[in-house]
Amino acid sequence: MRLIDTHAHLDEESFDGDLTEVLGRARAAGVEAVLSLGTTFESSRRMVELAHRHPDLYAAVGVHPNYTAPATEGDWQGVCELARDARVLAIGETGLDLYWKTVPLPHQIDWFRRHLELSRQTGKPVSIHCREAESEVVAELRHAAADGPLRGVMHSFAGSWETAEACLALGLYVSFSGIATYKKSEALRELIRKIPRDRMLVETDSPYLSPQPVRGKRNEPAHVRMTAEVLARELGCSLEELGELTTENARRLFGMVDRA
Ligand code: NI
Repeated sequence: MRLIDTHAHLDEESFDGDLTEVLGRARAAGVEAVLSLGTTFESSRRMVELAHRHPDLYAAVGVHPNYTAPATEGDWQGVCELARDARVLAIGETGLDLYWKTVPLPHQIDWFRRHLELSRQTGKPVSIHCREAESEVVAELRHAAADGPLRGVMHSFAGSWETAEACLALGLYVSFSGIATYKKSEALRELIRKIPRDRMLVETDSPYLSPQPVRGKRNEPAHVRMTAEVLARELGCSLEELGELTTENARRLFGMVDRA
């Protein structure tokens, strides 16, 4: 049984006391790697430190769209420097968020473009957050794709088929979180059945978005298995096959080197 949690936030306070145990439970559940993403320069710096201490943990660095308002030029320079670290496999979390309305859209777009450019410069894929901003995100991605092919993933996808198709056509992967396990997510499960198998990833977005049946509790990478079970059921394959497929996809996208 192999799984990779392609999106978590393990530097959050709720993991302060027991990160080693959390990673132990992940390993016991078959999770061979976790990609943990920074949301600010400081959090990206912490992620890189953690990734150097834990062999199963890799980092992504960036500034989450909802945290771009107070971010400085110095923060961005810091993110760009961190991005060169060998334990950093992706750029993000970035994207656009029109749900919280805490940061004006033009400011978010400026920062989204910086991340897309950094992804191109470093050759490391981008992890994209999109909340109530599907047409805006797709417009930005098309704009960026004019300069050359994109590499990245739409994280915790819960959008329309039209958006999924547009992202797939741009070469992106699509990742599913605990949202796929919720009772109300019937349309999303229908969409999952149409996603090409070689573009599908799984994630937890820990400590958020706990899948059924642990919804409401702190999420952790071991729970990615519960989402993988739902995906396997939708695709009509075994959990092991789903794990193998999504693990190979994640390794290809993030350039993870097989451990001896
Ligand atoms: Ni996230």
